[in-house]
Amino acid sequence: MERLDKVLVSQNIGSRKEVQKLIKTGLVDIDGKVCKKPETKVDPEVSSISVQGKSLNFQKYVYIMMNKPAGVLSASNDRNAETVIDLLPEEMKRRGLFPAGRLDKDTTGLLIITDDGDFAHNMLSPKKHVFKLYRAETDGEITQEHIDKFEKGIVFSDGTQCLPAELYTLCPLEEPYKSLLGKEVKPNVGFVKICEGKFHQVKKMFLAVGLKVVFLERLSIGELVLDTNLKTGESRYLNNYEKNMIFNTKKT
Ligand code: URA
Repeated sequence: MERLDKVLVSQNIGSRKEVQKLIKTGLVDIDGKVCKKPETKVDPEVSSISVQGKSLNFQKYVYIMMNKPAGVLSASNDRNAETVIDLLPEEMKRRGLFPAGRLDKDTTGLLIITDDGDFAHNMLSPKKHVFKLYRAETDGEITQEHIDKFEKGIVFSDGTQCLPAELYTLCPLEEPYKSLLGKEVKPNVGFVKICEGKFHQVKKMFLAVGLKVVFLERLSIGELVLDTNLKTGESRYLNNYEKNMIFNTKKT
């Protein structure tokens, strides 16, 4: 059970002050009865709440897919730079949202934004084996030798050992992505699958084999693939099925 005003704030109805005013004015109903006390305890998953005659579609947590553009920080807020949260449309913004797993400022593609900490933890923990697939353009040719080194497990110059990773020269995704991204082998383009999230991991893995990443995009997390209908910078909610696809770990 939670305070009514807190529930309304969590659902982006307004600030604490604004929702308290709505409640005190008699514009909020719980199970069909006007409730004028902001401190009333309510279970929003059991009771039906309506605000100004409109029933509240209570969502404990939200899960958002963003096609992250380059030049934007994967952070909740920053004094100087634009963040992925700033990019969300107003109606999607609510308290507690954060990017689940950071992408570098210049990295683009699939980013999950949520307010569910447990979900983010499970998605990011290497122990859960949720693989993230990246498309990397490098400054040189990707060879079998590189593929073998990735498979053995890259060691960074500071001695950090990475888990074995898969490196492909052809897009390992199914249609329509295969034809979109991987019709032809481009010698300097690699597709990397990792389940860890070390700082600058993909860039450092390539550096360790003598290649510099010049463009990096995340294509998928688990079985969830970036929606090709989302333009750069756009976001949309994930449905339950898509959310669960993140934890499907089918091997390619
Ligand atoms: N690896 C990187 O080097 N950068 C990212 O943004 C993600 C993975």
